[in-house]
Amino acid sequence: MDKNISAHIVSAGSYVPEQILTNKELEMFLDTSDEWITSRTGIKQRHIVPRGHNTPASELGSKAAQVALEKAGMDCSQIDGIICATFTPDYFFPSTACRIQAALGMKNGFAFDISAACAGFVYALNTANSMIISGQAKNMLVIGSEVITKTLDWTDRNTCILFGDGAGAVVVSAKEDSSRGIISSYIASDGSLGDILKLPAWGESRFMHMNGNDVFKHAVRLMSESTQKVLEDAHMDLEQIDLIIPHQANIRIIQALASLLKFPMEKIVTNMDRYGNTSSASIPIALEEAWNEGRIKEGSKVVLSCIGGGITIGSSLIIF
Ligand code: ACO
Repeated sequence: MDKNISAHIVSAGSYVPEQILTNKELEMFLDTSDEWITSRTGIKQRHIVPRGHNTPASELGSKAAQVALEKAGMDCSQIDGIICATFTPDYFFPSTACRIQAALGMKNGFAFDISAACAGFVYALNTANSMIISGQAKNMLVIGSEVITKTLDWTDRNTCILFGDGAGAVVVSAKEDSSRGIISSYIASDGSLGDILKLPAWGESRFMHMNGNDVFKHAVRLMSESTQKVLEDAHMDLEQIDLIIPHQANIRIIQALASLLKFPMEKIVTNMDRYGNTSSASIPIALEEAWNEGRIKEGSKVVLSCIGGGITIGSSLIIF
């Protein structure tokens, strides 16, 4: 292991389906209101794959990956491995990552999926970081891709209003500059909290179940703790951080996180108003937007933070 080598995010891309479902449209078939959804969640609309269309996660993921590759000025033949985070895979097998590999026309390298729900992207990034610093790979695609609307009970107003479909991808490359790149990374889980958010694989009820109040409470505490953990590991403090990109579950979770950390909301990226909660895709989609808007520049210090069903927890501290 070369101590000078670190894993750098060199580009980001995203893709969301064209069709938009607004809160107003939800009012037409659900006992809910734009006012309720906006004030409780911050969500105004979400992109969805058209109902009745079989658009798989691999299709969204490969389109996001193509954008990331173009921005990196790279060809897929230069990629050593693909990790795709998803809880809405095309198949149990082949993995969605293998399907993305095929869609990209890539014959080389390896591909596998990670299942960590909304924390999936940070789990995948953490894994790519370990593979790069241990010398197993030089260039990797890390993708979060979800077609969540397929898993929703559209008569359950507690859950179906929250989610959208989409994909985000980053190219992560080995560079001989350990003063930048992924500086610290943390993943954890608490399986004892598995029942508060789950999607059964078998049985009669194949829809997502959620205890919203429990998820809310744990999300704020665990995202705050994991943010502090990556800062401690990097011997840095919050004042040095330019941007936090949290998982886009709910604006009130993010406001509570900002308040607990005493971190200004202006330095926190939010876009759930336009996309809803896209689970493992939410952080890379927000990352690409922040980068496009010039909120991420060379030298920017950025924390990614998330929790997901499992309960899974993850944070990364990156210097761009
Ligand atoms: N429209 C109108 N009313 C609704 C809706 C809706 N879509 N959904 C629930 N209600 C009603 C409830 O039935 C309840 O009515 P009642 O008082 O007559 O019983 C009332 O609104 C209040 O319900 P609560 O559950 O207490 O509402 P709360 O303020 O807690 O908001 C919410 C619910 C938005 C789900 C909140 O708990 C939350 O944000 N939790 C976090 C969950 C989350 O973000 N999950 C995403 C997946 S997990 C992840 O990504 C980390």
